[in-house]
Amino acid sequence: MINKGKIVIIGASNVGSAILNKITDFQLASEIVLLDINADKAKGEALDASHATSCIYSTNINVHAGTYSDCRDAGIIIITAGPSIRPGETPDRLILAKTNIKIMNSIMTEITKYTKDAMIIAITNPLDVATYYISTHFDYPREKIVGTGTMLETFRFRRILADHYHVDPKNIHGYILGEHGNSAFTAWSTVNIAGMPLEHLDECFNFSQKINRQAIEDEIVQVAYDIINLKGWTNTGIAMVACRFIKSILYDEHTILPMSAVFEGEYGLRDIALSIPRMLCAEGVVKSFEVKLTETEQNLLFSSAASVKNALSCCKN
Ligand code: 2OP
Repeated sequence: MINKGKIVIIGASNVGSAILNKITDFQLASEIVLLDINADKAKGEALDASHATSCIYSTNINVHAGTYSDCRDAGIIIITAGPSIRPGETPDRLILAKTNIKIMNSIMTEITKYTKDAMIIAITNPLDVATYYISTHFDYPREKIVGTGTMLETFRFRRILADHYHVDPKNIHGYILGEHGNSAFTAWSTVNIAGMPLEHLDECFNFSQKINRQAIEDEIVQVAYDIINLKGWTNTGIAMVACRFIKSILYDEHTILPMSAVFEGEYGLRDIALSIPRMLCAEGVVKSFEVKLTETEQNLLFSSAASVKNALSCCKN
């Protein structure tokens, strides 16, 4: 019997612990279990977070370290384990493919011993390689596996554009699609601010200085490496993305967000996971949307597919 409010987080490093803390802050679970290859780290993070639940602002969530057998009745499993890009390293998540596929293999081998019912949220990089691998190499319902994908780039895009126009980033709509990584692209044709199309924005906002689309596209990709070089890792933005996904699942929201899952012929693509707008609810990823893209945008999606496929095929050798 599934306990919908039970979340297992695999990987207790910077990302896993940030997610743990945000879930407790937002009261998105009744029980949170932390697992890490370093059992002491999981225990320490869980203990620390458990003390915060004593505060009047907190909910009495049962936070503890655990084992894979905790997946048996979990509602959601979040995979964050595996190395990330470090400061000064080649700025490309795809270099992590070989190492992290091995880690995904051992994690999924364990998870599938205990459940096929939990929603799995993949966060480990390279995100689309990891999402594709765990979706296709194990006997696990595909709709129950989702990668956070370009929701994070979309958050970044909203912030960048919001700063330009001095508006609330939540008024900014539109998608960054494709790979969560260097070939992510801005689907400019989907962008609007509170319903005002991009072509009219400068006029509406009385701006003489037009936005520099190329500079924005570059910043969306580069900013992750800037954060890594500045603070050593990224974790706050991705933790918020994870919470957004958890909320959609927990409250059966049928939310449409850009997220990574395996293509079933959308835009003519198969055998690849990338982000396009998809609908998420308690049942999982229940619908994918082939939103109208310009020819240039479609070609960018195809290049994204080619880079991720290339990384996947290198892992076979
Ligand atoms: C991020 O974009 C590095 O994938 C991580 O924050």
